[in-house]
Amino acid sequence: MLVNRKRARNKSIEQKLVFEEKRKKKNTTDWYFAFKYLLVVFALLFTFWFCIQLYKWHLKRLVITPFDRSKPLSIEYSPRKWGTLKSGYYLALKSMSPFTVISGLMWFRNRIQGNSIPIRHWCNQGDSLQKYTWTRHDFESFGEQTIVDGPFVLTTKVVLDGEEGWRTKINVKFNNHSRLEPISILWYYSTEAESDFVTVDKYNDDPNFFQIKGKSFSDGFFVSRIHFFNVSQTLFKGCFSNGFKPQPIDLKEIVLNNLYWMTDEQFGHIFVMKGDFDLMSNVVVCQISAVPPFDISIDFQVVPDLDSDYIFTEVNDFDSAHENGVLDFENDFEAKFNLKSKGFKNGEIDFAKAALSNMLGGIGFFYGSSLVQSKYNEKPIRYGPLQLLTAVPSRSFFPRGFLWDEGFHNLLISKFNPRLSVSIIKSWLNLMNIEGWIPREVILGTDSEARVPPEFIIQNNTNANPPALFLTLNSMIDSGTLEAAFISEIFPRLELWYNWFNASQTGVKRSSYRWRGRDPYIKTELNPKTLTSGLDDYPRSTNPTENEIHVDLRCWMTFASRVMAKLSKQIHHPSHNIYEEAANYLSDNHLLEDLHWSNDYNMFCDFGLHSLNVKLVRPKTGGPKQRKEISKPRFGCVPEFGYVSLFPLILNILEPDNPKLSRILDNMKNPDTLWSPFGLRSLSKNSSYYQQYNTEVDAPYWRGAVWINLNYLTLKALNHYAETKGPYQDKAHDLYKELRSNIVSNMYREYVRTGYIWEQYDDKTGQGKGSHPFTGWSALVVLIMSENY
Ligand SMILES: *[C@@H]1O[C@H](CO)[C@@H](O)[C@H](O)[C@H]1NC(C)=O
Ligand SMILES: *[C@@H]1O[C@H](CO)[C@@H](O)[C@H](O)[C@H]1NC(C)=O
Ligand SMILES: *[C@@H]1O[C@H](CO)[C@@H](O)[C@H](O)[C@H]1NC(C)=O
Ligand SMILES: *[C@@H]1O[C@H](CO)[C@@H](O)[C@H](O)[C@H]1NC(C)=O
Ligand SMILES: *[C@@H]1O[C@H](CO)[C@@H](O)[C@H](O)[C@H]1NC(C)=O
Repeated sequence: MLVNRKRARNKSIEQKLVFEEKRKKKNTTDWYFAFKYLLVVFALLFTFWFCIQLYKWHLKRLVITPFDRSKPLSIEYSPRKWGTLKSGYYLALKSMSPFTVISGLMWFRNRIQGNSIPIRHWCNQGDSLQKYTWTRHDFESFGEQTIVDGPFVLTTKVVLDGEEGWRTKINVKFNNHSRLEPISILWYYSTEAESDFVTVDKYNDDPNFFQIKGKSFSDGFFVSRIHFFNVSQTLFKGCFSNGFKPQPIDLKEIVLNNLYWMTDEQFGHIFVMKGDFDLMSNVVVCQISAVPPFDISIDFQVVPDLDSDYIFTEVNDFDSAHENGVLDFENDFEAKFNLKSKGFKNGEIDFAKAALSNMLGGIGFFYGSSLVQSKYNEKPIRYGPLQLLTAVPSRSFFPRGFLWDEGFHNLLISKFNPRLSVSIIKSWLNLMNIEGWIPREVILGTDSEARVPPEFIIQNNTNANPPALFLTLNSMIDSGTLEAAFISEIFPRLELWYNWFNASQTGVKRSSYRWRGRDPYIKTELNPKTLTSGLDDYPRSTNPTENEIHVDLRCWMTFASRVMAKLSKQIHHPSHNIYEEAANYLSDNHLLEDLHWSNDYNMFCDFGLHSLNVKLVRPKTGGPKQRKEISKPRFGCVPEFGYVSLFPLILNILEPDNPKLSRILDNMKNPDTLWSPFGLRSLSKNSSYYQQYNTEVDAPYWRGAVWINLNYLTLKALNHYAETKGPYQDKAHDLYKELRSNIVSNMYREYVRTGYIWEQYDDKTGQGKGSHPFTGWSALVVLIMSENY
């Protein structure tokens, strides 16, 4: 027993030990397992976190990921083609590539004004020139510009030699028989990339001749010569070079910082550039100060190397090349617009030629990145580098690309040069990101950014702008200038663009649409702006909500669907039926009226939460005035009669026999509402917003003034209804005739009076207003004159 017990005890001890052992082992394995477990959990968590970060990163990058990055649409011009491609400069030449050599003109009167010297370089309304206008310009091969600055007239002629270079001649003379006064003309060369240089090559050999040479990243080696002719009284001649670039990129600053004065017996102080030559500089400026008249001729050639001597085309050739350009232009212009055969006088035809030439001469090539933001980015990020070939609304005030303006610009450009429009359209569609969004205002490069207030630089990818490029496509397809290959090439992008609109700009009701980008919280605006619609301060509902619906956007979508249907038909695209159906559905007049017609107000209108009586009132506590709702906002028609109410007519959505068409025509013709002797007002004279400031400092913009783009579309529509069988044909025809003559005669009169084409025209006096020259969509007057819709 005892033994047994002992054994038993031993055994139990053994067991215990084993047990202990096991426990120990188990403990370590437990730990081991726990550790492993934790590691796995950790790894999983990390992977999860990593995936989320990756996904977030992906979301953040969507806005800056170009659509079909590997296959951008190729434009029809060589990147080495030379042109007057700096829209915002009085005269500057460059090639259609990112890092080129920019050459251009500056000039100044020898006087101190304010406490500076009035150097002209960037087109600037503050310079108050009496006139500057391309009188002829075909974009491809030549241009001719007249600049009137005080007592001086500068005529700048340009011949573009394709990829080889360019030539220009500048004639300076007195405006009238004012007293003699010297003028300083500067011609500069400025390169952009690190490894580029430009330097003065020949300087002292011949006092009437400078030679400049250099190299730029995109153009390679180049040589340029400046010749002075017919100068009777020279006060100074010289070149200056500089090895650095100031910020901002306006070279004017370099010149200002390096001017000193010398004394002339007859004219007193003459301001001239002082400095040394740098062998490896990136800016060269040559100056002549002389008493007009005189001539300067500059030629520029790309060369294979800088060692040999080059034979330049002789100056005589310039004259004949330029004259040939002019001749072709004149013939082309008459063949395409028939103004002579329509009975217009020479002055009127010159006005029309200037309108077209400024549109073409203002076309720019831009390079840089756009500052964009989506809801996934806390801060704006850079989208790019991007390139854009585009016309611009105004060389002085808006020398950059605007999405909806461009659709209007190319209505005109495509009638003169369809190949150019094809390139511009492709260039714009290349900006599209993978979501199908295109920025509204395209501000590329430091000199473009320098001209835009910071709050307008950032582009928001929830925001649209009217898809007006469909206007161009429609016009081109109707006039047979769109090739099937081109349509097929751009169609995937158009589909994505269309779908982006259709998905992101919808309204709450079926088949309704709503502009984004209105601020429901802003208190200082009489009516929260709708920049996205293109009609900035045109009154919409006073209280932006997600329930409001916009009649103009619905019409744009109807129109876009129709054009998509036409395009897809031409290339037998399988989705043709989808667009055809969408177009028919949205064109249904009953459906449109259900959503947007108001019997109470007898008009098409937006619907939204709207107060009929608001005022800007200064708060008792001081500070800026704030909106006060005198009458309580109610959901319903926003009864502000104007361009927005006309959209069903403007975009031909109304059936020719729809009685609402007749109503609109009658309402439009009333001088107490939209009709003025100078064109259609943007907003009815009896609207409470008519000519009202939107804040204390925001002057009325689309609140009464006459705008040419929508007058053009109205005329096009009236012409359509006048020519389509229906009960209101005659009525449309009468309005058409009168409106056309009002627009043309007023714009011409103002051009003669002021020297400019304007952004808008005053509805009471007809006078040009806003920025000038404005030869973006205001240049559509050419099509109005030629009745080429
Ligand atoms: C000549 O030009 C000057 C400067 O622009 C102007 O003030 C003056 O009125 C002009 N004289 C005539 C006769 O046109
Ligand atoms: C010099 O002046 C004459 C007479 O005005 C003109 O015919 C000629 O073209 C001018 N020379 C140049 C190179 O512009
Ligand atoms: C546009 O969107 C609506 C839904 O909001 C859809 O029913 C319609 O098919 C879309 N149109 C096209 C052409 O894709
Ligand atoms: C972009 O626009 C949307 C819609 O208007 C707005 O909600 C959002 O705050 C805007 N984002 C930025 C960064 O401005
Ligand atoms: C503006 O005038 C039209 C036409 O005379 C009229 O029908 C409409 O009621 C007026 N609107 C306002 C707000 O007075």
